[in-house]
Amino acid sequence: MSLTPQQNLRAYVDYLRDLGIYDLYRRDEPQTLLPELLRTAIADSVSRVPMAAPPPVPVARAVSAAAAPLPPRAALPPRPAASTKEASPFDLLASTLSPELAAPMPKPIPFDDLAPLPLKILSPAERPAALEAVRADIGDCTRCPLAYAGRHKIVFADGDPNARLMFVGEGPGADEDASGLPFVGKAGQLLNNMIGAMGLKREEVYIANIVKCRPPGNRTPEPVEANTCTQFLIKQIDIVRPEVIVALGATAATYLLGVKQSLGSLRGRWHSSRGAKVAVTYHPAFLLRDPRQKGEAWKDLQMVMGEMGLKPPAKA
Ligand code: URA
Repeated sequence: MSLTPQQNLRAYVDYLRDLGIYDLYRRDEPQTLLPELLRTAIADSVSRVPMAAPPPVPVARAVSAAAAPLPPRAALPPRPAASTKEASPFDLLASTLSPELAAPMPKPIPFDDLAPLPLKILSPAERPAALEAVRADIGDCTRCPLAYAGRHKIVFADGDPNARLMFVGEGPGADEDASGLPFVGKAGQLLNNMIGAMGLKREEVYIANIVKCRPPGNRTPEPVEANTCTQFLIKQIDIVRPEVIVALGATAATYLLGVKQSLGSLRGRWHSSRGAKVAVTYHPAFLLRDPRQKGEAWKDLQMVMGEMGLKPPAKA
């Protein structure tokens, strides 16, 4: 199902109304003021008709509300032209907000600062059930707007619950959304080759993403989406306890490490997150677009192999 940017925005807005939008642009302002300001701004951006704060609506109703026609527009001044590029609904929404409210989100918070490291490391035998419990907790998730943006399957993870090596990508694409497994499309085939070149099999590593639902049009996850979802990835990392995590691309690096820096400045050295050593490399989808960078990615993987004592497979 492909939504127009306007339908997408509508779905987001309905969802945010259900939540009271207290978290989206929260900064240091008094909490009593912001929701009211946002309600007004969002109501205005959608219908151009001033609305009273809606009564709480069960989340399930947000979906049908999203499909409902927009209310008639009142004769109000035209809103500034909103970009309709592969537009994130948040871009559209932000374009209607005052500069104060539309200011970028504060910097990401490192995974290490989001939750204390668990005192107990689970035994290998306990890990599969612990991961299943996390998956059960996620359920048919409606915690963030991606639940309403056309997702088909929640993509939890794939691989060995006792893996020494974990790969973290950005979020599911179309193939992953259809299958429920991470990295099964073209980028996934390249990732499988990268894993093979390291002397491992896909089943021996653990693969997950920053967000578990497909962002529409494969856009980058919004901070509110990533920040909502990563609580589960943190639990997965804490259960699997990999020695090394490879962050595939800038989004994975940004959220794992809590830094917003160029990939180039993060590659080629070790970072740390949740007790694991973290290496940053190019996302396989980027390598498909620019295969000349494969040699650079191979250098990153060799750094990981050196750390883990891995050898490339013997040539047949
Ligand atoms: N890209 C990602 O970041 N993750 C996937 O699972 C697939 C493509």
